[in-house]
Order: sequence, then C-alpha cells, then structure tokens
Amino acid sequence: MYSVKELDYGTPKRVSDAQITLEIDGKPVTVPSGASVMAAAVEAGVRVPRLCATDMLEAFGSCRLCLVEIEGRKGYPASCTTLVEPGMKVRTQTPKLATLRRGVMELYISDHPLDCLTCPANGNCELQEMAGVVGLREVRYGYDGANHLRAATDASNPYFGFDPTKCIVCSRCVRACEEVQGTFALTVDGRGFASVISPGGTDFLSSECVSCGACVQACPTATLMEKSIAEQGQPDHSVVTTCAYCGVGCSFRAEMKGSQVMRMVPDKDGHANHGHSCVKGRFAWGYATHPDRIVKPMIRVRITDPWREVSWEEAIAHTASEFQRIQRKYGRGAVGGITSSRCTNEETYLVQKLVRAAFGNNNVDTCARVCHSPTGYGLKQTLGESAGTQNFDSVAHADVVVVIGANPTEGHPVFASHLKRRLREGAKLIVVDPRTIDLVRQPHVEATYHLQLRPGTNVAVIDALAHIIVTEGLWNEAFVRARCDLKEFEKWKAFIVQPHHSPEAMEGITGVPAADLRGAARLYATGGNGAIYYGLGVTEHSQGSTMVIGIANLAMLTGNLGRLGVGVNPLRGQNNVQGSCDMGSFPHELPGYRHISDATTRALFEAAWSVTLESEPGLRIPNMLDAALDGSFKGLYVQGEDIGQSDPDTQHVTAALSSLECLVVQDLFLNETAKFAHVFLPGSSFLEKDGTFTNAERRISRVRKVMPPLTGLADWEVTAALSNALGYPMHYRHPSEIMDEIARLTPTFRNVSYAKLDRLGSIQWPCNDRSPEGTPVMHVDEFVRGKGKFMITAYVPTDEHTTRMFPLLLTTGRTLSQYNVGAQTRRTANVVWHDEDKLEIHPHDAEQRGVREGDWVGVRSRAGETVLRAHITERIQPGVVYTTFHHPFSGANVVTTDISDWATNCPEYKVTAVQVTRVSQPSEWQRHFTELDHQQHELLEHRQREQA
Ligand code: SF4
Ligand code: SF4
Ligand code: SF4
Ligand code: FES
Repeated sequence: MYSVKELDYGTPKRVSDAQITLEIDGKPVTVPSGASVMAAAVEAGVRVPRLCATDMLEAFGSCRLCLVEIEGRKGYPASCTTLVEPGMKVRTQTPKLATLRRGVMELYISDHPLDCLTCPANGNCELQEMAGVVGLREVRYGYDGANHLRAATDASNPYFGFDPTKCIVCSRCVRACEEVQGTFALTVDGRGFASVISPGGTDFLSSECVSCGACVQACPTATLMEKSIAEQGQPDHSVVTTCAYCGVGCSFRAEMKGSQVMRMVPDKDGHANHGHSCVKGRFAWGYATHPDRIVKPMIRVRITDPWREVSWEEAIAHTASEFQRIQRKYGRGAVGGITSSRCTNEETYLVQKLVRAAFGNNNVDTCARVCHSPTGYGLKQTLGESAGTQNFDSVAHADVVVVIGANPTEGHPVFASHLKRRLREGAKLIVVDPRTIDLVRQPHVEATYHLQLRPGTNVAVIDALAHIIVTEGLWNEAFVRARCDLKEFEKWKAFIVQPHHSPEAMEGITGVPAADLRGAARLYATGGNGAIYYGLGVTEHSQGSTMVIGIANLAMLTGNLGRLGVGVNPLRGQNNVQGSCDMGSFPHELPGYRHISDATTRALFEAAWSVTLESEPGLRIPNMLDAALDGSFKGLYVQGEDIGQSDPDTQHVTAALSSLECLVVQDLFLNETAKFAHVFLPGSSFLEKDGTFTNAERRISRVRKVMPPLTGLADWEVTAALSNALGYPMHYRHPSEIMDEIARLTPTFRNVSYAKLDRLGSIQWPCNDRSPEGTPVMHVDEFVRGKGKFMITAYVPTDEHTTRMFPLLLTTGRTLSQYNVGAQTRRTANVVWHDEDKLEIHPHDAEQRGVREGDWVGVRSRAGETVLRAHITERIQPGVVYTTFHHPFSGANVVTTDISDWATNCPEYKVTAVQVTRVSQPSEWQRHFTELDHQQHELLEHRQREQA
C-alpha cells in the first residue's frame, strides 16, 4: 500500500509481440496479448474499482468489486481475471454495476471498524477509497451482527503490526508471501465468514515469516502496516534510491516526511528487484540515525588517549600533515588506503585516485580482497571480463540452476525469491554446499541433487563434473569449436579425462557419492539452459581462483554462456563490491581492470590527473598488515571497512593496526578498526549522499540524498578535502562530475552519466558506443577476450586439514537478518532474530564431546580460540562445524587462519581445522576484547563528557 502513490495496473504486466485492440467505455486501447481487462482499462485511463487485485500479484477474483459488462457476454465478469480479446467492447460504469459494487462494499464495511479519522491508513486506504469510488452512503446490515471487531492485534514483529479487525480477507498478503516472497508463511484459516489470516497458527515473530514486508506492501487496508507509519503518520514525498546492504542492489522509494525517513518501499520499476525486498533493505535503516553515530571528527595521539573533537579543517590538516611526516620519514610507500564496498563508486574512485595521485604509490586495496577477488581473476582469465555474465531476470529462463557455495535465501534474499519462483515453475536445482541450506528443501522447492561436499574440495567436485561431461560425450562440441581457443581446450581435455578425475576416484576426497555427481553432471549438461550462481563458498579458499576457473570451464564446455537463462553468476556480498573492483581499488589495476604496468593506460590517467604514476602494483591488504608489523608501513586511510572484525586471523590484524603511527578511519560508528585509530573521520550513510552503486549484475544504480549529511560532509567531500590538503587538487562540485571523469577514462563506462541513469533507471556496464544502453548479458557473440580459454584446474588439497588436535573443519557464512560485520544491522531491531553468533554442530560430534544445545563451547584453531554457544543441528554434516560472524565478541576471525587463495590472497575463511570442547568461560581473546572495548568506549564517552 502506498501513500505516495504509484500507478497500479491491478494485474502483472504482460509482455507479448501480439498486440490486441479493444474498447473500454468507448475508448480504443491496444495492449499485449495476455493482459487483463483491468490492466487495459488502466492503460485507457479508466480505473475499475478493485480490492483483491494489485499488479504485484496474479489475479485472484475474490472481491467481486471489479465487475464489468462485455458486449455479447452474459453476466458481469471480473475484469481482473478476464483476459482481453480483439474487438472486445467493455463497459465499466453502468447502473447495474454500480448497484452490485455498492452491495459488495456494504458487506465489507459492515464488518469493519469505522474509525477512519484515527486510522493510521487514513488517506491511504484502498477500502476507504473504494467506498468513496462506489458511492457507498449507507450500510443496511448495521454493525451489530457477528463481526471481527474485537480480534487482538499481533505486534510481535518489530517492524509491522497485524490488526485483524481491519482485515477484509482479500488474501493479498497470503498471495504476496507465496508468489512474491516464496515463503508460504501465511494461510487463510477457516471458511466463509469465519475466515481469518494466520501466520501458521502462531504470531508473526514465531512463524516462518522472514519479515520481507511483501504482505505489508500488498495489504490494501491498515491491517498489516509498518509501525513507523502507524506511529508517525503518512509520508509526504518520496525519493528513489538504492539499498546499501547486499549485492542484489534493490531499488527503493524512500518515503519521507521532511528529512525523516518514514518507510522504504521497494520500487516496482527497480530492474534488480521489481518491487520486492528483504527485511534489511525495507526495515533495517534505523542505524542511519542511531545514537551511536559519531558525527564530529576526532583525533588523538595515542590509542590510549581520549578522543578530542575537532573541526573538519583541523582533522583534515592533521591527517595530511601526519601522512606527509610519515612519507618523509619512512618513504613514499609507507602509507596506503582501503576503499569501501559500502561506499559509492564515486567515493571509491576518489580514494584510489587519492592513493595513486596524492600519496604517489599504488598501495590501495578493497574488501573484495577477502571475498570476490578470485572472481575477478578467474573470469578475466577465462572469459575476459571480471564480472558475472547475466542480469538477475535471466534466471527466469533457466532450466537447471546450480548453486555453489552460496546461500541466497540468507545472503541474497530478493534474488532467492526470483529463483524460487522459477524453481516452482519446474526448473531443476543442484546445490553444492557442505551444509543443508534452506534451498535444498523449502515449500514447493526441492533440489534434485545436493552435493554435500567436504569443505575445501570444491575443485575436486568441479573437475569430476567436467570429467563426466567430457567422457560421457555430453559436451557442446559446436559451441566449443566456434567460441573457444581449441589449443587450450585440447590441453584441458587431456587433463580432465584422466582417470583420477572420475567421480568414483574423487568420491573419497569430496565425500559426494559418485552416482550423485554423475546425475548432477548429466542434468546440467543436458537439462536445457544451465545457470551457475556461486558465492563466497567458492572464492574463500586456497583454490578460490581455480574453482572460479573450473566453473567458467564447465559453462564453456556445455555452451551455457552468451544468452538468457545460462551463465556464470557470482552473487556479490556487499552492495558495491562489484563497483569497488570496477573503480580500480586493487593495487595492480586502474579503473576498468587495466593493469597498472600497461604504459598506454597509465599515460591516459597521467594526462587526465596531471601526475606521474608508479608502474609497479602496490601492497594488498595482507601485505600492508605484514609491512606494518615489519615497521615499513606506518599510515593507513580506511574508508568504510572494518578489517579489525572482517579480516582473518584477528590477532594478526590488530597487532598490525597497533603498529601504525597514523590510522585514519572514516566510518559511521566506532568499529573494531577504529579502536586502533588516531583520526576518526565521521562517515555518511547512503541516505545522506548522491552517487551510484553497482550490483552483482554490473547494474549501476543511483543513490540519492534524502537527508543532509549528519556530519556536514559526504564521504567524497572528505576524501577530496584530504587530497587538497596533501597538495593534490580535487575540485568536484557534485558526484556527477566524478562519474563524468570515470566515464571519460573507462571504456566500459564510456556512455554512463547521471542524466542517462535518471532516464533509464539503471544501466548494466559495459555501456559504450557498442551498447549505449548497457549490456544485460555478456559474451553474446564472442567472449570479451575473443576466444574462451579453458584452463587447467588441478585439485590441490589445502594445507588446512584436520589433525588429532584439530579434528573438525570450521566453515562460516551469513544469516538473513544481519549484514556482514553487523555494524549497521546490530543497531536495528533485526537483533530480535539474531543477537549472537552460534556454533552449529552435528548431533554426533556434539554427543562425542558431551555438548548439549546452548552449551558454551571453545572453538580452537592454530590461530586462536573463541567461545560460542552451541546449536546442535543436522543441517551440518558430521566432522564440520559452522558459524556466522556478525558480532565482534564472537571472534569468528580469531580462529580463521592466514591461508589464502594462491592467485589473489583471498583468505580461506571456509576451511579452518578446529577442536571444539565444552567450556565455562570466555576465551582469553574475548577477555582482552572486552577490556579493550570498555577502554575505547570510556575514551569515547570521555570525549562526550568534555564536550558537554
Ligand atoms: S491482512 Fe490485508 S492483505 Fe491480508 S487479507 Fe487482510 S486486508 Fe487483505
Ligand atoms: S513479511 Fe514476508 S515472509 Fe512474512 S508473512 Fe509477510 S510476505 Fe510472508
Ligand atoms: S539487502 Fe539485498 S536483497 Fe535485501 S533489500 Fe537490500 S539489496 Fe535487496
Ligand atoms: S479486484 Fe477483481 S475480483 Fe477483486
């Protein structure tokens, strides 16, 4: 339900080459075949009254308010369920229709509280509006009969309430939960007058509901309503912007009252989400104005000193002088910067420019280092471009979907809803994951194969799949011959047919039955359009890059590239991780993935930036940390990242941070990294700035300022000020000028501009003269590198293996309600779903250790030890344990090690050999953590007291 109304066609949009012309109330109108009479009427500018219909949902035909008359037909068909036909003559307003509609409305209103003036939906209620539209003036049945007016409100969900007294049982909510979200949490209990909407016989909070809000959006009355609206009234305007959480990149209308966000409503025109969202984007925006926000710059000499609030001028001047002092004393390479995948493209571009042009070195890296850097490497080597091949809509054309090392229902929920819809339509699913993720078995969705491999054996599985496809003659010879480098293919083929790649030989390594591997390979190779979606379970391994290459090999081998419904699709973690990589955040690459050693590219940037650039790649994050411990790296500028929590081997990271002479953190909150900082530059949230994010489909979308920055400056303005203070001028008046510079210097962004983004809504790069409106599907006629390159993917076991001392393998992942290090979501009501990270352990392993549900257990690896509460579950296989990493005290990364991907240094988060034992107190690291945490918050409060 919208207050700042969008046009609603009543039934979903249809696409068809066949066009049908009919007449509505005497007006001719032409619509695609398959459209409803109701939608055609809207096209003709006629609004037929309705209650149970909305264009997010298939027509249901229950309310009988949308009746029309059709010449030559008997009776009064419902316009929402009647499809258009050529030459149809429809009348929407006749005396008989008016009487029928008033009769329907009378029945609804006789069982509805008449408290419109004090109802939170007043002025934005479809029931109220329809009563007016049909001209209801009296209710003959009175209000004293049987009714639902004393039913209790369910306020259990932190974000929305359910007031059954206002329910008209239109079932829009039930259908939204099924059709849009795919969760099936709601039912209509009872029959006839006794019908009520029920979240599975319990309250919303304890039900299967995942709080996506689709039912709230679909509800035409105040029955399901956001608490923010119920408490504060209706918004007065809206601004379209992009979610700042995951890589799906949902488009939202921020509905505002003045500069206050009232609610976030997913945008029906959003090309990534088509009007849907998850709990994070829709509801978890309160962190932006949380009291923990630090909004004034602060500096201190030592990390044991209290913070001193200073002006922006002083903070910038101090930072610049510290970096200059360090460079004078230790050399130009002694400082560096880390860009953020949570910040905009423009901000990320500026930070890498600051490092290369103002610091004068290439010591810039980004958090993609620890997530999808192997994707960049693997896809560039094989296909020629460091990005996924499809748009999200492509999944609607897939026949077989392979999900490898990803958990879309938790990590990429809106994409998961699209995927589940396709699976309900009949597409087959193969899941490759050590855990039984939700997708393996859900209402109306079941994987044909779940290849439950041992952590660390991805490459063995992908090699076995390729072996089967080649040796059974299932490969697409025509595609390979036409599109791939045949010399490389023949080399690879000779490698992959070797008997040790057979599923029978690999079974002992992977733990996956050979028959399942054979079945899955045959299904993927012969089941029609095969699409692979993968996540960090692929990349965060010592062979992360090898596995990405293996996936690309498999897709080329079967011809599953270059059209809708197929492809190789990395599900990117953070909102702008694709963008931060595109913008040249890696030490070896300038924007657009061009190597810094390439003299022509360097010359282009040197001319544009009026500097001389270093030709050697700079330090990666792990190298910066090692160099800090060695004493050769002394100054670091971290924008919007929390390496103190997110990077592996926490104790190594914090030791390195402690060795720095000037650590500058730009963030919303005093995060784990900032506890070691000397300068804190307050950051701005996505609501406070203009810019763009690029999602996992290479889709560039606008971020629009809906409120002024609480700190006075957007992040890009701070970076520019720092650059100016360092003597390298940056004078941009608006982020659009930064994008113009990016477009001038980056071939894949050549035709991108804010004006075009405003016109098209969003653009998938490459966007240049060849594809001026963007590229939904890549590698259509040929690969970006020309011929696709098969590469050898020999399985090499990780050094991290189980021993008598560390007999279990720990793997990590995410949960729906929390996001990454939790800095944002922990400061929202999302904590009701996940207030601590737990250790999932199989009943067999738990029993062996005498561990019961909820016990505290020590998790110890060769890197460190932490203590978590145990959750006993068969989702995880024996010999493997699992945890999330959203809470700093959990210390998941105290346990993870320094092993990393051979090509990119992406850490092997997914495999750590551990021992688990029952304990009764926190680990030593946790005790130190608590002390440091108290100390740092004391120092922060001391600053606040001084100011007071
Ligand atoms: S809760 Fe709202 S959407 Fe659901 S049946 Fe009742 S009125 Fe319709
Ligand atoms: S919030 Fe989403 S999951 Fe929950 S009942 Fe509504 S539609 Fe279903
Ligand atoms: S977190 Fe991801 S799926 Fe959820 S609303 Fe934001 S972009 Fe969409
Ligand atoms: S809107 Fe058509 S029957 Fe309800």
